[in-house]
Amino acid sequence: MAHSTAQATEQYNYDIVRKFTIMTIVWGVLGMFAGLYIASELAWPFLNFDIPEITFGRLRPVHTTLVIFGFGGSALFATSYYVVQRTCQVRLYNDGLANLTFWGWQASIVLAAISYVMGYTQAREYAEMVWPIDILIAVTWVAYFWIYVQTLRRRSQPHIYVANWFFIAFILATALLHIFNNMAVPVSMFSLESYSLHAGVQDAMTQWWYGHNAVGFFLTAAFLGMMYYFVPKQAGRPVYSYRLSIIHFWALIFLYMWVGTHHLHWTAIPDWTSTLAATFSILLLMPSWGGMINGIMTLSGAWDKLRTDPIIRFLIVALSFYGMSTFEGPLMSLKSVNALSHYTDWTIGHVHSGALGWVAMITFGSLYHLIPRLWETKMYSEKLIYLHFWLATIGIVLYITAMWVAGIGQGLLLRAFDEYGNLAYTFVESVAFLHQPYVFRALGGAFFVVGIVLMAFNTYMTIRKGNRERAELDAKLAAKMAKA
Ligand code: HEM
Ligand code: HEM
Repeated sequence: MAHSTAQATEQYNYDIVRKFTIMTIVWGVLGMFAGLYIASELAWPFLNFDIPEITFGRLRPVHTTLVIFGFGGSALFATSYYVVQRTCQVRLYNDGLANLTFWGWQASIVLAAISYVMGYTQAREYAEMVWPIDILIAVTWVAYFWIYVQTLRRRSQPHIYVANWFFIAFILATALLHIFNNMAVPVSMFSLESYSLHAGVQDAMTQWWYGHNAVGFFLTAAFLGMMYYFVPKQAGRPVYSYRLSIIHFWALIFLYMWVGTHHLHWTAIPDWTSTLAATFSILLLMPSWGGMINGIMTLSGAWDKLRTDPIIRFLIVALSFYGMSTFEGPLMSLKSVNALSHYTDWTIGHVHSGALGWVAMITFGSLYHLIPRLWETKMYSEKLIYLHFWLATIGIVLYITAMWVAGIGQGLLLRAFDEYGNLAYTFVESVAFLHQPYVFRALGGAFFVVGIVLMAFNTYMTIRKGNRERAELDAKLAAKMAKA
């Protein structure tokens, strides 16, 4: 393997993939630690310490930005740059531009985190960044799009493998969403504040058109691209049905754009938009499960590997959680169910079964496949991968079951009436009820954080090992040459 990988290192731009891979893990550790901290603040509020910079309100967007854009985004840059080169059998277009996307993206995340801690925000969920950062992101993203298209154009293979379809759809849709949702007029050239160009109900609908498609294209379509490359590779088997992958691709792309309004049920939006969103959300189950079934069936015939290959375990658990969260989502989009679930921790549980179960697990599996190939060596410790797998899986289960208890309990408490038609419980009683599930959620989070810290250690040791082995090989070669 070492020889062929060494050749690949020269042929392809692996340097950029390595950089994004390292930053995926760095942001993963920081972002998940921030998640653990805010989870602990909810369980033990004294942890806010009355210091504005570290209160829940300011650290929450730090958490979401670091995990979604820092961890998830860097993982997508790394894997998409790797996959497009491998499947098109061509070097990534323009090293300089690729580096620009790296520094542009990392700078955006650092600046966003600093600005939130200082109290600057646009108050749009997942798009809290103030306008100068939005511009930096837009420039970076256009460069990303250009690199991807130019690499595809230069491919030496006639065919564009399906993983690239998902990646390109994600890149295009993200550009559209980001630019349209963030259109604003700054208060002045020297102010970080701005006014949105959208107003009232349209503003809310635009924001949730963005918000849900951030889920649909960033956290789903793109990670399906990852899945379509790394699952067949690791299983050593072809994709179960190529036809299914194309059909569910188009269905997914078409349906996702319509469902954003299910985040605004029972508010001042026109009723028909709510119904439309719920209908399309239900339909969305089919293409989502198309992807899940295609992934799982690709593994069939390789089930024995589950016993011996920890990476396959990450991948299969990821696919299972993808199936689970895309069943739960359509259910929650029904207006009657949403009346119970909205404003409760059920939503938070759903988010994390998608985010931890699907996004993080597919990323871990893919990176464990990728890292040894990038640094031309074997992983430092397979045992640590197993340990990571169990810590992560137990962590997720604790997290989401705690949130089901919290959310459904909270929803029921808030809508219970006594025999006279008065509310049966005060709001404070519903808050007190949440303490226990919050403690369990924090415990689940701690498991998950320890898992990714182990991954960081394992990766660090693997990189050291790879560098050492390469130096030894170079020294041997030099000695041979000198003799000759
Ligand atoms: C150690 C792991 C994690 C812990 C302990 C954790 C904890 C939390 C907490 C406490 C919140 C705030 C909930 C609230 O407002 O009531 C939150 C929100 C959120 N987290 Fe995490 N998180 C973790 C990992 C992740 C990952 C890996 C992702 C994404 C890839 C993610 C995505 C989100 C999102 C999108 C929200 C906002 C949810 C909403 O507004 O409905 N989290 N997280
Ligand atoms: C068929 C697929 C899915 C559908 C129909 C769906 C539907 C929903 C619904 C109805 C909500 C609650 C809205 C509310 O009451 O405010 C929601 C929230 C959310 N879902 Fe999903 N979901 C799906 C899959 C996923 C997946 C796979 C992920 C993550 C990878 C995810 C991430 C989120 C996030 C982050 C939120 C919280 C947004 C917020 O309020 O901040 N969803 N989803």
